[in-house]
Amino acid sequence: MTVTIVGAQLGDEGKGCIVDVYGEAADVVVRYQGGDNAGHTVVHEGEEYKLSLVPSGAVRGKVGLLANGCVVNPETLFNELDALRERGLEPDVRVAERAHVIFPYHRTLDGIEEEAKSETDSEIGTTGRGIGPTYEDKAARRGIRVGDLLAPETLREKLERVVPQKRALVEEVYGLSIGELESPAAFDVDTLFETYREFGRRLETAGMVVDAGGYVTDALAAGQNVMFEGAQGTVIDIDHGNYPYVTSSNPTAGGATVGTGVAPGVVGTGEVIGIVKAYLSRVGSGPMPTELGGVAGDTPGYDEQGAGDEQAEELATYIREEGGEYGTVTGRPRRVGWLDVPMLRHAARISGFTGLAVNHLDVLAGLDEVRVAHSYSLDGEEVKTLPATTEAWARCDPNLRTFDGWPAFDADTVAAEGYDRLPEQARDYLTYLSNQLDTPIYCVGVGPDREQTVVREDVW
Ligand code: IMP
Repeated sequence: MTVTIVGAQLGDEGKGCIVDVYGEAADVVVRYQGGDNAGHTVVHEGEEYKLSLVPSGAVRGKVGLLANGCVVNPETLFNELDALRERGLEPDVRVAERAHVIFPYHRTLDGIEEEAKSETDSEIGTTGRGIGPTYEDKAARRGIRVGDLLAPETLREKLERVVPQKRALVEEVYGLSIGELESPAAFDVDTLFETYREFGRRLETAGMVVDAGGYVTDALAAGQNVMFEGAQGTVIDIDHGNYPYVTSSNPTAGGATVGTGVAPGVVGTGEVIGIVKAYLSRVGSGPMPTELGGVAGDTPGYDEQGAGDEQAEELATYIREEGGEYGTVTGRPRRVGWLDVPMLRHAARISGFTGLAVNHLDVLAGLDEVRVAHSYSLDGEEVKTLPATTEAWARCDPNLRTFDGWPAFDADTVAAEGYDRLPEQARDYLTYLSNQLDTPIYCVGVGPDREQTVVREDVW
């Protein structure tokens, strides 16, 4: 059977931890979209592993598959694998032949494009990993795929076609000189060919390259359990997110079928778990109706207006510190706000959640009151889900509901003794959420360790 894990918010919902909890019974853990923009932290046997590309299941001895919907930076891949091996693990990671490769020119262009956009305050706040430029090449049919790294003639031919276009983009569109860039070699065909041909050899020698759809189908036919691990979150989905402040792939459940090469029914008849952080965080720019305080450079208008509501700023700082809300990949402070229920209704509809995993409930413990946006006011009307345009979303004012806060509790005791040991106020909060989304709560994260999770449902 299959279990699909989907971020219900803006990424950073704590998916890694839930993959870890439910991944125990999985044989194969598949990433179906994104690349090394997906910072995830896995704690295993007291050791903390920070990964950005390798599926978190690989830390626990599962086969990790980077499927065709992913964009793969081979340098990051081998660095992460080598680092895991140095720490005594033996990760088994496979890569889809059809996955697209991130080249150094993609990363450079990501930076150049963001810089150019920042002149008009329209930067996305990307992770700078070359994700957008790589998916752009994929859609434009000039991308280079993992399979091409194993075919020297094809690789050279494609590089010779694409690299001059990238050079022209840098020089003629952005008016920059390649020679003055930090890494001119990123635009040199010979260097790229040699380096990426070598990556191809390594992938081939290690037997890592597979046809993802076929691999997963065979695994299922052999009775294995497959987990699809979505990266990022619903509201940064390129189709269903707040465009253009999105990543360039589909983190929603539909992405698992297209991004792996299995039929919709394979994903749809399995469990689809929506991962929800008990509050909201956001990396980068774009609207956030429930935001508390702000982060310079990311919160729209914050640089000009500065801090407004001191209490909200204090609360944001408190939640940010308690929740460790700093980017795993970039280290930058995340924007923080109350739970946004219209956003979650949108997410639940798109992915068809069969269950919810609510994380970081402990972070809110000790507050007098906890709020949620139950709905929005948009141009004088009450709306209960996310408007389709980002401009409309930016005009939404949250209609807040207030819940009694809950006292601090011992995470280990609650995790050991079960859901009913959660403070009553916390359970009221969770019941409200479950009712609004018409979806049962499968598990609740009450602390950073995998063991500090209250599991109500064994999904397999
Ligand atoms: P990109 O994926 O690097 O192109 O970034 C596009 C947008 O997605 C930016 O707002 C990023 O901050 C956001 N983003 C990308 N990956 C993650 C993630 O793993 N967690 C949260 N936000 C992300």
